[in-house]
Amino acid sequence: MAIREIKKYPDEILKKKTEAVDDFGDDLQKLIDDMVETMYAAPGVGLAANQVGVPKRLTVIDVSVGNEETSLIVLCNPEIICHEGEEANEEGCLSIPEYTTMVKRFGKVTVKGHDRHGKEVELEADGLLARALQHEIDHLNGILFVDRIGRIKKEFFKKRYKREKAVSS
Ligand code: NI
Repeated sequence: MAIREIKKYPDEILKKKTEAVDDFGDDLQKLIDDMVETMYAAPGVGLAANQVGVPKRLTVIDVSVGNEETSLIVLCNPEIICHEGEEANEEGCLSIPEYTTMVKRFGKVTVKGHDRHGKEVELEADGLLARALQHEIDHLNGILFVDRIGRIKKEFFKKRYKREKAVSS
């Protein structure tokens, strides 16, 4: 296992839609293990494959941030098939360090996809897990959480983010 470099905004790869996973062989298994290690090391509650530079429809999620071994979710080709309600909550992203803001999401979602071996899976989630699933599926579609905020707020984010980058680099 190895920790991979997390691509940061405004890296172009974060804006591109990813491709379906159809080969569940050794390369994918290694990528998954590396992504899990990278997510825990960050630490973060989720990571999408394109965040480590691989444009595949794959995400790893653990909303316990590694506190409970059983809560790790590995999803290939995830898709929201059902949703209910709406909730606004504070959100951040490993690709946009030190910036959080309120984002509106569905309150509950049902997601289907494949596990790490290609078996079809379906899961129902609410709360933080529902939010993480929507955030990661957005990543796989080339969408960042700052694309889900209002235009004025986004302009403000861009200016502020550039300025902070300029100061820190
Ligand atoms: Ni993210």
